[in-house]
Amino acid sequence: MAASRAEGNVTIDEANGWLRRIAENPGHSRWYIQRFRDLAARGEDLAGEARLVDAVVSRGSRILDAGCGTGRVGGFLAAAGHDVVGVDLDPELIAAAREEHPGPRWLVGDLAGLDLPAAGIPAGFDAVVCAGNVMTFVAPATRREILRRFGAHVRPEGRVAVGFGAGRGYEFDAFLADAAAAGLTPDLLLRSWDLRPFTPGSDFLVALLTPQPPR
Ligand SMILES: C[S@@+](CC[C@H](N)C(=O)[O-])C[C@H]1O[C@@H](n2cnc3c(N)ncnc32)[C@H](O)[C@@H]1O
Repeated sequence: MAASRAEGNVTIDEANGWLRRIAENPGHSRWYIQRFRDLAARGEDLAGEARLVDAVVSRGSRILDAGCGTGRVGGFLAAAGHDVVGVDLDPELIAAAREEHPGPRWLVGDLAGLDLPAAGIPAGFDAVVCAGNVMTFVAPATRREILRRFGAHVRPEGRVAVGFGAGRGYEFDAFLADAAAAGLTPDLLLRSWDLRPFTPGSDFLVALLTPQPPR
């Protein structure tokens, strides 16, 4: 059982990699926000993940940005005309998302207990995007349940796009087994958000999954 303790308005779950970083360095979230502001100010491309998601959904889709952080991905998708909801357990990052990308609903919440209908937001999303290594930060014991909840929030023919790097404690095969157990079938496996094909030696995985069984 993971240790858990209250710190400010974040409950520190030692099994969660992001909360562990905050526990080790209380300025971690501030640093992360500033890092992305600096990258944006330098004109870096911060929208690669969002462009891929935008390419696979219809105009005006409903998109859930799972582990949205500062709203980097969901903010772009909202500007492209989609109806975006973002969920993240770090209140500092959610505050930054609200400030930097007004419009979408940015909510503080743990993906392990994701239940948007309980908050009055219907399921049936056209897509769920989970970018930026989020799945490697969540507590390992919650991974499969989180994937199951993604499937429960997306419509039967919708897409769940998950991307994360190798060497972060979550083997790609284990992820694909968890996705299968959660009822999600891969439509397409890539090694980058710009559509390079996934191969066994790839150091990054972008999985486009769907709750619909293969035909
Ligand atoms: C590296 S950041 C990526 C943020 C954003 N997806 C992006 O790509 O810009 C990882 C994020 O995962 C979030 N996170 C980790 N575990 C989570 C959980 N159980 N529920 C919700 N968010 C979580 C963290 O709060 C953090 O914002």
